[in-house]
Amino acid sequence: MKAKAIAHSNIALVKYWGKKDPKLNLPAAGSISVTLRDIYTISSVEFKDKLEKDNLILNGKPADTLKVNRMTSFMNIIREQAGIDLKAEVVSDNNFPTGAGLASSASAFASLALAGSRAANLSLSNSALSELARKGSGSAARSIFGGFVEMQVGEKSDGSDATAIQLVDENYWNMKIIIAITSEESKAIGSTEGMNHTANTSPFYSQWIYSSQIDLDDMRSAIFDRNFSKVGEIAEFSCLKMHAVAMSANPGIIYWNSITVKCIERIRKLRQSGIPVFFTIDAGPQVKAICLAEAENLITSELKEIEGVKKIFITSPGSGAALLEE
Ligand code: DP6
Repeated sequence: MKAKAIAHSNIALVKYWGKKDPKLNLPAAGSISVTLRDIYTISSVEFKDKLEKDNLILNGKPADTLKVNRMTSFMNIIREQAGIDLKAEVVSDNNFPTGAGLASSASAFASLALAGSRAANLSLSNSALSELARKGSGSAARSIFGGFVEMQVGEKSDGSDATAIQLVDENYWNMKIIIAITSEESKAIGSTEGMNHTANTSPFYSQWIYSSQIDLDDMRSAIFDRNFSKVGEIAEFSCLKMHAVAMSANPGIIYWNSITVKCIERIRKLRQSGIPVFFTIDAGPQVKAICLAEAENLITSELKEIEGVKKIFITSPGSGAALLEE
């Protein structure tokens, strides 16, 4: 009863920021993302006799209680689905440096969904895996698939249709995602807490959810039309609205630092000079520039030049979750 799986992280072009059902972890609106080739988690899960509790080794060290509890709740869902009672030995490794601000629950829970379900002898479709991963973390539902992925909000109250689907695969567009690390400190407020606080206190929250639905339709069409500047325009719009609604919570949440703003300014200046490039930012201060492959070197050197940018990672669209061993 053992399996090992890999899943890649993803970045959202139309952001998920708010839940309609925190218990089933159902998003309040859909989202669209790109899976990232070079940023991933490999997890192995083994259900064993004689274990009193689940164990989690994360990046070579025993994980803290909060992480163990979140993993155990997730394993409980798998145990219930499989009708088993055994505890699990879980080993999870990120290929990206810890503390680089790239830590992501998306690759973690997508890899755990695949490895955990196979170890429990479940044979789930990609759609069922996506539903399972969503219960661990909303963004993880998208990491089951490669390329450009849409998370569907779904209509059923049990959440069985709140799953992701692939729009186009990782070979559809030769894009580069250039990540500028502007701070290596861990973030003050995580996504789950940040979005719940926003939903509870921002006067703009309902407008944010309403307008996300329009962005989704526009983004899907822009991707199918291969209209890069349209994709960029909608992605920046969605990103800035997500940060604006978080800032409008009470007390407001500010994920950016001064370097984040400098990166935004530089990217917009490059665009004004005719280079197709746009930015997106998640619940932290790192800036992700997205450009076509031919602009990679220029954008990388421009971002490197900004004082305060600590590191740069370059990646491209990547594949979906895959089983490595069982
Ligand atoms: C800003 O998927 O981490 O990255 O479902 O509570 O685990 P939970 O939230 P999570 O939120 C991701 C938020 C985001 C935007 C996005 O990826 O769409």
